[in-house]
Amino acid sequence: MEIIRTPRMMREIIKDLKAKSKSIGFVPTMGALHEGHLSLIRRAKDDNDITIVSIFVNPIQFGKGEDFDRYPRDFDTDCEKIKNFGVDYLFYPDAKILYPEGYSTFVNVENLSNKLCGKFRPGHFRGVATIVCKLFNIISPNRAYFGQKDYQQTLIIKRMVEDLNFDIEIIVCPTVREVDGLAMSSRNSYLSEKEREAATVIYKALKEGERLLKAHEDPREVTNKINEILKEERLVKEIQYAGVFDPLTLDEAKEKKNNYLIAIALKIGDTRLIDNILVEVN
Ligand code: PAF
Repeated sequence: MEIIRTPRMMREIIKDLKAKSKSIGFVPTMGALHEGHLSLIRRAKDDNDITIVSIFVNPIQFGKGEDFDRYPRDFDTDCEKIKNFGVDYLFYPDAKILYPEGYSTFVNVENLSNKLCGKFRPGHFRGVATIVCKLFNIISPNRAYFGQKDYQQTLIIKRMVEDLNFDIEIIVCPTVREVDGLAMSSRNSYLSEKEREAATVIYKALKEGERLLKAHEDPREVTNKINEILKEERLVKEIQYAGVFDPLTLDEAKEKKNNYLIAIALKIGDTRLIDNILVEVN
């Protein structure tokens, strides 16, 4: 695995790979790699000749008072984790190179970016779309891999790829969960033992929501039930949103249909956690 620190160097390698008609699979990450990231890397390896992973904690997708400074960073452990996966290149740029003084260009995917997480993290998706756009321009992958846990992010990136005419296939891989159902996330490391236990309420609420929707309950009733379950957990400090939504528009589902997104964002202590599942009703 070769570690590349600059866009210029990365581009030279890409030029060479393209000249040899190699297909490129790309897994963008912010490091603190866990089994969820590893599942994306495995899939990229299966689908492509060359696999490139990036590690970059993107400052512009964190708002004021968010966890940019304490976001877990452990480059050596990350390298150790992926070294046996057959990753060909690890792109590990510096913030000063990607955002030099005078940097002024941002990508804003309107509409979708203002819903769900966007309401509570203003500017977050503008930061995500901007960095993903920059990484796509540098790496020009054939395919890029994202986890379903960040469902809204995947919709926004798909929209951006369509709108900006990127010739890149976006592949969304299933959320990887702990045995008790908690979605794997780099932020789970912030949780105390008690908080970690309390966090299992999220998956419980999602699964109960799924059961009720499949029993043809009204989605608004299901939203109420999900909120009741979450409120029963004493350590849930703030429910930012929780309920049943349209999987394409992210608007609240107000009537029965065949496809739903159940999505939750809440705080346990100071830790913000998100999760979702897609439900298909026959
Ligand atoms: O999902 C993430 O880890 C980040 O939002 C991403 C896509 C790597 C952009 O910084």
